[in-house]
Parts: sequence; structure tokens; C-alpha cells
Amino acid sequence: MVEPDVDSKTAPGNPEDSSADTLERERDRLARLEHLAKLGELASGLAHELKNPLSTIKLNLQLLQEDLSSLPGAETSRFRAGTLRKEVDRLSHTLDDFLRFAGRLELHLQSTRLNDLVRDLVDFFRPQAQGANVRLHTSLCTEEPVCLLDPDLIKQALLNLMINGVQAMPGGGDLIIRTHLDQQRVYLDVADTGSGVAPASVPHVFEAYYTTKKGGTGLGLATTRRIIEEHRGHISFTSETGKGTNFRLDLPRQ
Ligand SMILES: Nc1ncnc2c1ncn2[C@@H]1O[C@H](COP(=O)(O)OP(=O)(O)OP(=O)(O)O)[C@@H](O)[C@H]1O
Ligand SMILES: [Mg+2]
Repeated sequence: MVEPDVDSKTAPGNPEDSSADTLERERDRLARLEHLAKLGELASGLAHELKNPLSTIKLNLQLLQEDLSSLPGAETSRFRAGTLRKEVDRLSHTLDDFLRFAGRLELHLQSTRLNDLVRDLVDFFRPQAQGANVRLHTSLCTEEPVCLLDPDLIKQALLNLMINGVQAMPGGGDLIIRTHLDQQRVYLDVADTGSGVAPASVPHVFEAYYTTKKGGTGLGLATTRRIIEEHRGHISFTSETGKGTNFRLDLPRQ
């Protein structure tokens, strides 16, 4: 079993969990949130500065393409204007991805029945899982846990984990979502029977822009951790090469 990262060694519910570990984990969480809040302020300012000129460039390129379309012998120029437009689109997507991760995050907290949220999400995700030959299972605790949370953001966080799980099983497999409780917290596991996290990736998976996938942004887990930590929760994982991975979230009960 790959020993995951510092977070998971101190996951609540773990018998080795000591109050010193819990304190350290809490300090890490607060330091990360403070860092992201500062980054978010800078990011929002910068994004504003970049977004307006980008959309002006895009609009003008569009007009240029239209002018060129009626000009005989201007195919090469039209093609170049098209390439520029694609690059402008790519830049604005990169900016949106970054803002989703580092921008200001406003929580719209609601008293939420977590099992219902999981059921909704699983229904929504089932066609995508089936298309990838993945069987979706749930094992939900019988007592209905209620948490104060932002349901859309928590769904986004869970969806990132579910997508990663499916992507780790290119030949299909099983994806299991579990909930269980103790006095103070709700635990949510997303487990797959996929490749496992490569040992070299273990220390890096939560880092922004860390990805081993062609076409991945590497912001999925960084965003998920941000969302969970903004909810005073934690995320950790255990993984075994060739057997699968279990990501665990824990959130305070209401
Ligand atoms: N369930 C999993 N099984 C195996 N490896 C995983 C799993 N989840 C994440 N990883 C590893 O962690 C890396 C980072 O994951 P993350 O979700 O942040 O980015 P990504 O999936 O690569 O890209 P994106 O989510 O932006 O499309 C992945 O590239 C992969 O190497
Ligand atoms: Mg991902």
C-alpha cells in the first residue's frame, strides 16, 4: 500500500490520529486558505485586466476574418486570423480554469442532506460512467447526515473525484461512493478499482497544475481540496498500484 501524503496519515477516524497531528493538519489547512485568499485577490484583479482586452482582441479578429473572407487571394491571412482566434480562446479558458481554482470563493451555505446530494450526483453521473464501462455503487449510512454546506460546490468537488476515478480505469471497473459518520464528522469515500496513483505522483497530486494526463489541467484535485477546506473539511487518500485508490473527504456535521 502506498503511504499517501501527510494529510491522509492524520485522517480522522484513523486510530493513529493524535491531537498534535490534528493541530498540524488544521494549521496547514488555514495556511493554505490564507495563501489562496491572497492569490484570489491578485487573481481577480489580474483577470479583470486581461479579460476585457482579450474579448476585444477576439471580436476584432472575428471582424478581420469576415473582411478577409470577401477578399480574393487572402486565404493565408484568413487562416492566420483563425489560428490567432483559437489561441485567444485557449488563453481565456486558461484564465477561467485558474480563476475557478484561485478566484474568490463565496460559499452559499445550506442545511443539506448529504446522502441525497450523493444520490443526485450519482444519477447525473451514471450515463458517463456507463459509457466508460464503469459500474457505479453507493453504500450510504442509514442515519441521514445533515451538513451546512454549499451543495453546488460540494458536488463539483465530488465530481472531480468521480471523473478522476473513471479516468483511472480505462478498461472499466467499479466506482464506489460511501458515506459514514461519527459524532462530529461525516466521511465520504470515492473509491475506484483503477491503476492507483503512481508512487512518484503521490506527493504532488494536490498541487495546482500537476497532471499526468494528456489534456489535463491538473487543477481538479487542487480545486477539490480548496472547496473542502473552505468547508472546514479535509481530504486524504490511500492508493495501491494496480488495485485502486480511495479518496476520503470529511466534513463537520451540522
Ligand atoms: N483516482 C485516481 N487514480 C489514479 N491517479 C489519480 C487519481 N486521481 C488523481 N490522480 C493523479 O493525480 C493527478 C492530478 O489529478 P487532478 O484531478 O488534479 O488533475 P487531472 O485529472 O490530471 O486534470 P484535470 O482534473 O484538470 O482534468 C492526475 O493527473 C493523476 O496522475
Ligand atoms: Mg482530474
